[in-house]
Amino acid sequence: MAPQDRLSQVSSHLNYPQGMLHGQVAIITGSGQGIGAEAARMFANEGAKVVVADLDNKKAEAVAKSINDASPGRAIAVAGDVTDSQYLKRVVQKAAEFGNGKIHIIVNNAGYTWDGVIHKLSDAQWEKMLAVHATAPFKLVQAAAPYFRVKDGEPRVIVNISSTSGIHGNAGQANYAVGKAGMVGLTKTIAKEWGPQFGVRANTIAFGFVLTRLTQAKEAGAFITTPEGEKVALGIPTSQLANKVGETTEQYVDIPLRRPASPTEAARSILGVVSPLFSYVNGQTIMVTGGRNM
Ligand SMILES: NC(=O)c1ccc[n+]([C@@H]2O[C@H](COP(=O)([O-])OP(=O)(O)OC[C@H]3O[C@@H](n4cnc5c(N)ncnc54)[C@H](O)[C@@H]3O)[C@@H](O)[C@H]2O)c1
Repeated sequence: MAPQDRLSQVSSHLNYPQGMLHGQVAIITGSGQGIGAEAARMFANEGAKVVVADLDNKKAEAVAKSINDASPGRAIAVAGDVTDSQYLKRVVQKAAEFGNGKIHIIVNNAGYTWDGVIHKLSDAQWEKMLAVHATAPFKLVQAAAPYFRVKDGEPRVIVNISSTSGIHGNAGQANYAVGKAGMVGLTKTIAKEWGPQFGVRANTIAFGFVLTRLTQAKEAGAFITTPEGEKVALGIPTSQLANKVGETTEQYVDIPLRRPASPTEAARSILGVVSPLFSYVNGQTIMVTGGRNM
């Protein structure tokens, strides 16, 4: 029986008693909190060894510790900024050491928003969003090429985390939308370059509304500091949130499921895409939106 057909039998825990990602090594950027942290825990739970890569050293260490407390030896934290090419090379090197010379999965998830309407957007806002959401994923994948362009019969998967803003545009987010849209082209190019000879799969996941600090009220005060020392406020102004977040389901009128996703739910879709259950899904943009923007 072909390896990809093993799933035709009963349930996955019988096929994968040690987890669907057993023996695989994954890099997840932006996994110090939010969706990435949930994905890191889930991947480890499915047997993977996970490189928790995040700007925030404390949070990255805490996620790695929580994983190792439950399953010793399954995670390392490598802190740094994805817009620094040297950092990306270090992440790849550490991952390869951790994986005894192998890396199987990259999830390009690190990101944030730095909003402004087109006629007021600064050069810094524009350049930073492209650097984080388009250039950094490309450079990480490029740095990891020697570990993906291999023929050892083991699975290799890349997932780029995009947004409905990248697919449909969003007022106030030209910079973020262009960066996130770029991921779609990057994903398809990886699928076309590395699929035929090496069997590498690449997919984009575009999230809609997931409850993390990026979608909480801006007034809650979350921020990110760029390496240049710029303090960028995160979240959505309460005035804009009013029709999205609230006590009643009617307030999620543009979401057919009438609710946002939890970070856990969002991370499950990433696990699904990297898992053997999706072994023939390649080059796609998977909308994880509760049906929003259909
Ligand atoms: N929350 C949503 O509704 C939503 C919707 C669409 C897309 N997304 C995307 O999902 C991804 C995860 O977002 P989240 O909601 O979990 O946000 P989050 O703020 O909870 O987590 C993002 C993580 O990325 C890290 N990060 C940011 N910039 C970085 C950099 N330059 N280098 C290294 N790490 C960096 C942060 O430190 C943080 O830990 C992002 O790419 C975001 O754009 C989120």
